Amino acid sequence: MNQSVIELKNIRKEFVSTKHYPGFKGAVKGLFTKETETKVAVDDVSFSIKEGEMVGYIGSNGAGKSTTIKMMSGILTPTSGTCLVNGIEPYKNRKINAKNIGVVFGQRTQLWWDLPLSETYTVLKEIYEVSDEDFKERMNFFYEVLELENFIHSSVRTLSLGQRMRADLAAALLHNPRVLYLDEPTIGLDIVVKDRIRQAIREINEKYNTTVILTTHDLVDIEELCNRIIIIDAGKKIYDGNLLDLKRSYGGSCSIHFEMKEVPNQDKVQAIHVLSEKLECEINKKKLSVSFNKDDFTVAEVIGKIMANMEVTDVQIKETELTDIVKRIYQNGAEAV
Ligand SMILES: Nc1ncnc2c1ncn2[C@@H]1O[C@H](COP(=O)(O)OP(=O)(O)O)[C@@H](O)[C@H]1O
Ligand SMILES: [Mg+2]
Repeated sequence: MNQSVIELKNIRKEFVSTKHYPGFKGAVKGLFTKETETKVAVDDVSFSIKEGEMVGYIGSNGAGKSTTIKMMSGILTPTSGTCLVNGIEPYKNRKINAKNIGVVFGQRTQLWWDLPLSETYTVLKEIYEVSDEDFKERMNFFYEVLELENFIHSSVRTLSLGQRMRADLAAALLHNPRVLYLDEPTIGLDIVVKDRIRQAIREINEKYNTTVILTTHDLVDIEELCNRIIIIDAGKKIYDGNLLDLKRSYGGSCSIHFEMKEVPNQDKVQAIHVLSEKLECEINKKKLSVSFNKDDFTVAEVIGKIMANMEVTDVQIKETELTDIVKRIYQNGAEAV
């Protein structure tokens, strides 16, 4: 099925708060005035997401990611616009909605602090009315992909951050929701745990065709999991598209750094410059950087050309990284894409 599971239309969220003035005088003034200020956290955002998609929702701190997730998961009501998840408005039908979605916030746990993990899952099984058979099947699957067995009988308060994250993920998925929201799921985790969690998300998506919306600071999460990304900046959507297209149109570039045996003389410098006008060269003493677009040359061709002219002692290849691309989009806006 290729239906949209999530449909956001011109969604907007304003936070109204009492204005604060600095200092003691300000605090006193605040007691007597009711001046308010309005902060637009999400500004006219629309998108639709199909069943089974894994979408990266990215933006800098304060861009509006969590606020969007909270509206999609029914925690917050939009100021205007509509949001449909599985055909219902999450903030209006909280009960039905709860069966459709799973949420993990990396910054705080949804587990009961004092209960052993195994009991937590038993309680959730009752709350979500999961059958014995499904419960068994899913728990076995989570044991396998999230490696829960080492700490299943520990109480949540004793778990390490990485264990807690895996436990949270299993809890969010126990009722097999159609949609999984992950808000910074890998924050603060070491590389090994990050890898495990990414692998688990991939397997869950493959096995259950779960739609996944992922916000993260770690663009490696996105590169490993998502084909599509939506970029939000100061509450506004500035990019929505395929990750590969983005990399092709923005990146596609590659630079190779050569360390030469000796500082090249003028003739050699001239020789490099005439190789092709599509090669951008920069020489600094014994270091030579060559940048080019991969549509024009292969890496091997470029290395070959340079090595035919100079004696090279070291070579480093650097592809344009997603981080660089995203930075450029923040600076230039979506038109640049
Ligand atoms: N409950 C709230 N009250 C007032 N302002 C808020 C509230 N929640 C978020 N904001 C503001 O809305 C903006 C977006 O926040 P958020 O969605 O948490 O961003 P992100 O998750 O992308 O870092 C920020 O400027 C933040 O300060
Ligand atoms: Mg956030």
